[in-house]
Amino acid sequence: MDHSRVPVLEALQEFRRRGDTVFGPPGHRQGRGVDPRVAEIVGLDVFRSDVLSLNGLDDRRQSQGVISKAQELMADAVGAEHAFFSTCGSSLSVKTAMLSVAGPGEKMLLSRNAHKSVIAAVVVNGVEPIWVHPKFDAERHIAHPPEPDDVRRRLEEHPDAKGMLLITPTDWGTCADIRGVARVCHEYDVPLIVDEAWGAHLPFHPALPAWGMDAEADLVVTSVHKMGGAVEQSSVFHLQYDRVSPEALKQREDLLGTTSASSLVFATLDGWRRQMVQHGHDLLEAAVRRAHRIRATAGELPGLRPMGQEVVDEGLAAEFDPLKLVIDVRELGISGMQAAEWLRTHRHVDVGGSDTCRISASITHADDDGTEKILLDSLRALVESADTIERQPPVHLPEASALELEQAMLPRDAFFAEVDHVPAERAAGRIAAEMISPYPPGVPVIAPGEVITDEVLDYLRSGVEHGVLIPDAADQSVKTLRVVARH
Ligand SMILES: Cc1ncc(COP(=O)(O)O)c(C=O)c1O
Repeated sequence: MDHSRVPVLEALQEFRRRGDTVFGPPGHRQGRGVDPRVAEIVGLDVFRSDVLSLNGLDDRRQSQGVISKAQELMADAVGAEHAFFSTCGSSLSVKTAMLSVAGPGEKMLLSRNAHKSVIAAVVVNGVEPIWVHPKFDAERHIAHPPEPDDVRRRLEEHPDAKGMLLITPTDWGTCADIRGVARVCHEYDVPLIVDEAWGAHLPFHPALPAWGMDAEADLVVTSVHKMGGAVEQSSVFHLQYDRVSPEALKQREDLLGTTSASSLVFATLDGWRRQMVQHGHDLLEAAVRRAHRIRATAGELPGLRPMGQEVVDEGLAAEFDPLKLVIDVRELGISGMQAAEWLRTHRHVDVGGSDTCRISASITHADDDGTEKILLDSLRALVESADTIERQPPVHLPEASALELEQAMLPRDAFFAEVDHVPAERAAGRIAAEMISPYPPGVPVIAPGEVITDEVLDYLRSGVEHGVLIPDAADQSVKTLRVVARH
């Protein structure tokens, strides 16, 4: 296919050349009505490119096939049979992907280290989750994706499950053996969905971890805005084989998606695909070299322990994304959250993620010598200033087994049940009616339907005292919990 073509960008250019006068949304009329004080900050071009797809980029009948041609080019670029653009982020795409595999009351295998959007999908879609527990790394206190044998065991126990959802790469850059898991799923003739929200760059360089479509997954969801170059909320579904029908995927997407998709999302997805096909290899090669260099230099700084290939060598993960710089800061005597806050306040550097033990920074094709220097200089400054950062009470990190809570009710039934609000001291033994997800990374520690334990409460409460944020809890201080009422 001709990857120099960019159907959405070309249609946008043509729309502007024609100078159409629009009487439909958006009401700002491509910027004519925008308050100049807004334009001064975000730029008028944002509004000039904000055009509806119907009677805008394309005509009422979509006879130019603008979006479908762009999707075909995307599919071709990444080795998928079909690609569909979504403008609602992977949070929504994950729900759609799950809906196209299992309906209400049907079983689905889900990796328990899932992002909160997966647990939300379980509640919204009404599927019965069959959790596959991730591999817990006690030393680093993180979860790595489950292995093919873990999936096989659960499929043996639940041969009526309709499919499996795997999350890889994790927020911390460790990756699953996608091919191994896909083959197990296919032995049972069920599809594998991969939440590859962090993996939009993977198809474009062979030194990067396996890309789901190459590794025999059936349906892969990406967030191109995370590691790629499209604007926020740009998500793509990639589909192959015949275990998930494109028709079902499209219709279920239609259940949840917006009717006013953003052309900014479409246009930047289109441009990203062209850029990656034409220059992706060189850009990512440079980014990988840069990330290796930064990791090596950061590793020489006292108190910083960047995670690297050793997680693979230790057999904890199948692969590792070198572009994720995950640095354990515990030896500095501070938490990752404190390090992240210090870097923002004192160096104006915003790292992508942090938790009790570490910070994470993603290196992308957009980084250059300047950003490399800023990151390394600010890490040096952090190390030098660590002694001045106020010590805080430690977070009580639980044993891995304590994080595997008993599921006493279906998440959907618990979420919509009659509820009580109980003080944390009296919450152990009660069934959660809410999700409780420290953010980032937004992986629920407690999901609706799970039985709350003292160990998990101690972890969450000590975390909050230390500055962990739990935006989805009804009481973000976790002094009270929303639990299923007893009758
Ligand atoms: C593994 C995973 N899946 C899905 C999502 C949701 O993606 P988005 O922010 O594009 O909605 C995230 C977001 O952080 C994520 O980490």
